[in-house]
Amino acid sequence: MIPAELIGDIPATSDHDLHDEPHAMFEQIVNPLREGMTQIATAPPCAMVIFGVSGDLTSRKLMPSLYDLAMTSRLAEGFSIIGVSRREWTDEQFRDEMRRAVEAHARTPVTQDRWDSFASGLFYVSGNFDDESMYERLGARLDEVDRERRTEGNRLFYLATPPSFYITIINSLGERDLVERQDFYRAPKIGWMRLVVEKPIGNDLASARELNHAMSEVVSESQIYRIDHYLGKETVQNAMAFRFANVLFEPVWNRHYVDHMQITVAESLGVENRGTYYEEAGAVRDMLQSHMLQLLSIVAMEPPAVFRGNAVRDEKVKVLRSVIPPPGATVKDFTARGQYAAGFIEGKTVPGYRQEEDIAPTSTTETFVAMKLNIDNWRWADVPFYLRTGKRMPRRVTEIAIQFQRVPHLMFQAAGTTDVEPNLLTLRIQPDEGISLRFAAKIPGTTMELRTVRMDFAYGASFGSAGADAYERLLIDAMMGDQTLFARRDEVETAWHIIDPVLAAWQAEEVTGLPLYEAGTWGPEKSDALIERDGRVWRRP
Ligand code: BG6
Repeated sequence: MIPAELIGDIPATSDHDLHDEPHAMFEQIVNPLREGMTQIATAPPCAMVIFGVSGDLTSRKLMPSLYDLAMTSRLAEGFSIIGVSRREWTDEQFRDEMRRAVEAHARTPVTQDRWDSFASGLFYVSGNFDDESMYERLGARLDEVDRERRTEGNRLFYLATPPSFYITIINSLGERDLVERQDFYRAPKIGWMRLVVEKPIGNDLASARELNHAMSEVVSESQIYRIDHYLGKETVQNAMAFRFANVLFEPVWNRHYVDHMQITVAESLGVENRGTYYEEAGAVRDMLQSHMLQLLSIVAMEPPAVFRGNAVRDEKVKVLRSVIPPPGATVKDFTARGQYAAGFIEGKTVPGYRQEEDIAPTSTTETFVAMKLNIDNWRWADVPFYLRTGKRMPRRVTEIAIQFQRVPHLMFQAAGTTDVEPNLLTLRIQPDEGISLRFAAKIPGTTMELRTVRMDFAYGASFGSAGADAYERLLIDAMMGDQTLFARRDEVETAWHIIDPVLAAWQAEEVTGLPLYEAGTWGPEKSDALIERDGRVWRRP
């Protein structure tokens, strides 16, 4: 049940709890480590509790990232992890499991010495998330770790369980006094306590509000770190650097010069072993509501005054609030959805979605969605943003393409050039991270014939690497108390506000099957129709 006070408008950015970020001067006093944070800053000591530690996320992302952070001296000496799950593991068994995960996924090779030093901080508590005695054992373990490894009462609680357990865990932490409500202006009694929550935050606006409300009953917004791992990607952060640290682009970043934008998040993978989750989620909930609207807000927001927590998040929320949710009756004109059928990926035959494990043979869950959104503000009036994401596309690629307008007059017609392609700026998020600019150049020779050429910046070539895994950046930020790259409550709820009408309209349609697209293609025909109707075409990245 959603508490009555939550049914109403989206919370305003002026809500007190959202703005308890301290003044810069004050923050230096309470958290000196944040000042001048660089690649080599070390996080303060803390104990990290991972709920759902036996899951995929821990073995593929969390543990390898923590190991890499430890090996690059980003974690304090006493840093400790207490894993919690239902499995009946001892500390030793837990360590062995984690070693296998780290060996398979970490960047730093595992040697016996390195592993021994890391593993000495790994502990395990077994139990059900609704079992009171588990929280007692956890509390005792935390006290022990604080004493023996000098973690100073600093605690990071990470919810890596299926979302259905979130509220139970949060309530139990509160009831058993394992977390206390803190804000920046009151010195904590023991150490700092923070809650890290994985997406999805709800599966619609009402359930997102319910979860946010449950969290707000136990901790303050400044203690909540909602992970959207796209924000941890170097290239996503670089999109902000590109816009706001260069004088060249921002003046043309508006309706006077931009024709439209295309945001593509394509994956060649299918649903893998996540069928049960994906059946409930689908592409809109899994990718568009979170990662893609984050990308949109970063490329469309106004410049924040400073690059810090609420200043950046205020701007992101402002632009999301200007997005016009596709109106119910016309959702069909603003969206295209589809489901992959059997096909070929990299030369291999792959099954269709309905034939995958844990998927209903009559499933109507979308594995592809394209959506046209308009932003109703001064900067972006009449500039469409086309978003598309899908599984089993020809390749894995995430990019933001900014298509500029045509030149107003072409003076080279007499010389044989009757048309030039408009400028296109592409921010390539992954893979081959980089930025490229398409422009017209003269073909060498005695005539004035023009051709489209590209100017490329490649992360790898310029910096020698494309950067650390997104989770490394986000985990360290959470330990350092920096919320800039985490989604705030109003951000998540505003995103649902955009998506809810689409989900409702689709549900009302009661279809028995979705348009199919062959695995290894760029989505259903309707996706092309969506953009071609406006006289534009999708890029083939
Ligand atoms: C996750 C989605 O949030 O992001 C997955 O749940 C998706 O379905 C993944 O595969 C994509 O992340 P990345 O970093 O591989 O682009």
